[in-house]
Amino acid sequence: MTDKERFIGLLMMAAGNRQGFSDFVEWLEDTDFFEAPASSKYHGSSEGMLCRHSLNVHYRMQSRQAECNARGIRPESCIVAPLLHDICKVNFYVKDGEKYKYNDKLWLPVGHGERSIMLVQQHMTLTEEEMVAIRWHMGAFDDAAKGGSRTLSEVFRRYPLALMLHLSDMEAAYLDEAEEQTCKKE
Ligand SMILES: [Fe+2]
Ligand SMILES: [Fe+2]
Repeated sequence: MTDKERFIGLLMMAAGNRQGFSDFVEWLEDTDFFEAPASSKYHGSSEGMLCRHSLNVHYRMQSRQAECNARGIRPESCIVAPLLHDICKVNFYVKDGEKYKYNDKLWLPVGHGERSIMLVQQHMTLTEEEMVAIRWHMGAFDDAAKGGSRTLSEVFRRYPLALMLHLSDMEAAYLDEAEEQTCKKE
């Protein structure tokens, strides 16, 4: 099974009954999501790593299933949020020789999490909890997380999915993808 098949299968299981699901998948297949890197030079800077990273965050989140259940988080949200948190990166990088660089002609130039939410919601609805989790998945690395501001701690307190998504994202990036994974030969 390819990463693309895995990704679409999981998303269908979690959100296949949402209005706009087919529209969203059709749109996603028209983007470079399944071939794109997850970054230009940090972890996941090779072809196919954006989709692989999203799956890695999903697997990390799965290990928090008991916590999700105990906190009353909808099981489908624990799948939708990790799979879609970095949709903002579609058509974000262009090939520059062997490497990638930012696409100067990027449309919808808004913040990282916001952009994911806006792109998904042009086609398919997200729940409030999923939106907040995706918006704040960068945690204290987000430009808006200013010292002294209580916004981030309030987000984590009220929406545990946001904290779990942030932790899963960090683990995927810095543990699972610490040694470069490549998707080309698989
Ligand atoms: Fe991200
Ligand atoms: Fe991420």
